[in-house]
This record gives sequence, structure tokens and C-alpha cells, in this order.
Amino acid sequence: MKKLSLTAVSVCAFFVLATTASAGWNTCVACHNGTMAPNKEKLKENNKTAESFVKAAQATQNPMMKSIQKDEKALKEVANEIGLK
Ligand code: HEC
Repeated sequence: MKKLSLTAVSVCAFFVLATTASAGWNTCVACHNGTMAPNKEKLKENNKTAESFVKAAQATQNPMMKSIQKDEKALKEVANEIGLK
């Protein structure tokens, strides 16, 4: 895992807290921008199915994914939203 600036982490933490109610790829993109975490294209490259996408999300040890991992339904919705079946 690359070193992250503290500012970026707190901005993201705030973002997650502020947006957990309305899920969707928009909630992920603050971190999944290709710098901090893999972007949409990369995620689709690594995961060919929605199931694999959800599993990958739940398997990551990164603390920034903690609040998201619990919401399997939201993860599935995002998987479908970015074009995975
Ligand atoms: C607060 C920042 C943050 C947010 C918001 C966030 N993620 Fe992540 N996510 C990460 C980080 C950091 C990783 C670990 C990346 C790594 O290990 O290279 C990760 C990993 C993942 C992985 C596993 C990637 C792989 O191929 O192993 C998936 C899938 C994923 N996130 C999906 C999502 C989805 C879907 C959302 C929105 C509902 C989301 N993430 C929101 C930070 C975030």
C-alpha cells in the first residue's frame, strides 16, 4: 500500500461518513480515482463478475473499506452500475 497523505485520508473518511446513506459509484470515486485506490477500469479488469467484485471489496484489509464492506447490497449495486453482471 502506498503512503497516503493524512489530508487525503481525512477527506475520504469524512466523505464516507457523509455519504454512506446514498450508495453508488459516486461514493467510491473519491478514493477509487486510480491514485489512492484502483479506478473503475482497473476494478473491472481485476473482477469479471459482480460476485468477484463484492468478494474483492470484502477481502481487502484496508481500513478505508471497513464501513463499505458491511453493505453487501450496496457493493452489488455498484458492481451492476459499473457494468458487471
Ligand atoms: C475511503 C476511501 C474508499 C472508499 C470511499 C471506497 N474505497 Fe474501495 N478501496 C479503498 C482502498 C484504499 C482499497 C485497497 C486498494 C489496494 O489494496 O490497492 C480499496 C479496495 C477496494 C476493492 C478491492 C480491489 C481489488 O481488486 O482488490 C473493491 C472491489 C472496492 N474497494 C470497492 C469499493 C466500492 C464499490 C466502493 C463504494 C461503495 C468503495 N470501494 C469505496 C478505499 C476506498
